[in-house]
Amino acid sequence: MTVPAEQAMLERQIRELGPWFHNMVLAGVRTEPDHFLGDYPAVKYRHFRDVLPADLTGKTVLDIGCNAGFYSLEMKRRGAERVVGIDTDERYLQQARFAAQVSGLEVEFRNLPVWQVAQLGQRFDLVIFMGVLYHLRHPLLALDLIHEHVAKDMLLFQSLQRGSIDIATVDEDYEFTAPAPFDQPGYPKLHFVERRYSRDETNWWIPNRACTEAMIRSAGFRIECRPEDETYFCRWHPVMVPPDGPHAVYPAGQAR
Ligand SMILES: C[S@@+](CC[C@H](N)C(=O)[O-])C[C@H]1O[C@@H](n2cnc3c(N)ncnc32)[C@H](O)[C@@H]1O
Repeated sequence: MTVPAEQAMLERQIRELGPWFHNMVLAGVRTEPDHFLGDYPAVKYRHFRDVLPADLTGKTVLDIGCNAGFYSLEMKRRGAERVVGIDTDERYLQQARFAAQVSGLEVEFRNLPVWQVAQLGQRFDLVIFMGVLYHLRHPLLALDLIHEHVAKDMLLFQSLQRGSIDIATVDEDYEFTAPAPFDQPGYPKLHFVERRYSRDETNWWIPNRACTEAMIRSAGFRIECRPEDETYFCRWHPVMVPPDGPHAVYPAGQAR
């Protein structure tokens, strides 16, 4: 095939696999040139890429809600030994497999919901959980399952946030009859979307900043930094929240 013919075929394949949420450049061809967020997610990645290890040689990575695999491929480019991307949308997974193939990168993409991460049967040095939490009906359970079954060290986390960006000081405990702290704007709040938000019926729970950070901590991750507004780089640590953990509905060692 001549070079222009190959290019035309690539453009056709990309079009047939669309629409793309990840606007990537595959062998010189943009997957979604008219993306509503522009050069997304590359433009977002620039804000936090430096908090991740530049060299992931020998490390394992799990990208939950990987979509078309932008972050999975970037982690493989950093030398990760094994990268697994999971998602529940087969169309996105097809895009991801295609993007990996065109890029010449070996990444495993599987159709698996976050609820079933225990099936992976291993812990990963880096877990990426970007842009998924607010799409879930049971967000804290997802974080608990990640902590319980697949996270080993680093967690890169992002959630859409709405409401106050204040962080209220929350006491250890409050008397039942005392004035409640709940009306403070900076008290952790999760906003329930019964119908739709932004024309998307898959948005369910949108936290404010205080709630995002409280949920991350409560699930057993220490926040190391917030390289941009909604993105957090965290480390796994043992759950210290009463009664005595683990929190996941199906803890390690029990039926999956
Ligand atoms: C907003 S996109 C974020 C994609 C990517 N992580 C990013 O930050 O660009 C949400 C992704 O999560 C996936 N998803 C939704 N529910 C999921 C679930 N229960 N388990 C795994 N993936 C899920 C969607 O199919 C979609 O690809």
